[in-house]
Amino acid sequence: MIVRRDTTVQALTWPFYSLMADSRVMANIVREIDSVLGGDETKIAFETLMHELPYIKAVFHETLRLHPPVPKNIKQAVADDVLPDGTRVYAGEIVGYSNWCMGRNKSVWGQNAETFVPER
Ligand code: HEM
Repeated sequence: MIVRRDTTVQALTWPFYSLMADSRVMANIVREIDSVLGGDETKIAFETLMHELPYIKAVFHETLRLHPPVPKNIKQAVADDVLPDGTRVYAGEIVGYSNWCMGRNKSVWGQNAETFVPER
């Protein structure tokens, strides 16, 4: 029900929310755009975003960490399997996970896990 549309909408909406809440990050973005594009709109292309605007890319990744459009998911094993931590999963069993919680886990991201910091 949400595939393609709502995921993309949320992935584009949350960065702007984050930018409006943090003038420091906004200033860094404007500085990067000015220095890379230099007012040349013809340079606005997918390749430019992927390879020449690392700060903007980091802002996008940080947005997905804090506001994942698909915040939890489940998988059903088609065959017996072993997860990376050694947990056994048997055919037909369902495993659920929350990447929303994983993205805010202080043991992974530190005490400032709830803070929007693209530099991390
Ligand atoms: C930032 C944007 C997006 C995010 C965060 C996102 C995230 C996801 C996630 C988490 C899944 C489930 C994967 C799984 O359970 O294995 C998924 C499935 C899928 N996504 Fe996206 N997606 C995004 C954009 C898009 C776009 C733009 C398209 C197509 C133009 C698309 C097409 C699909 C399709 C076809 C599936 C499989 C659905 C199914 O299994 O029935 N997604 N996406």
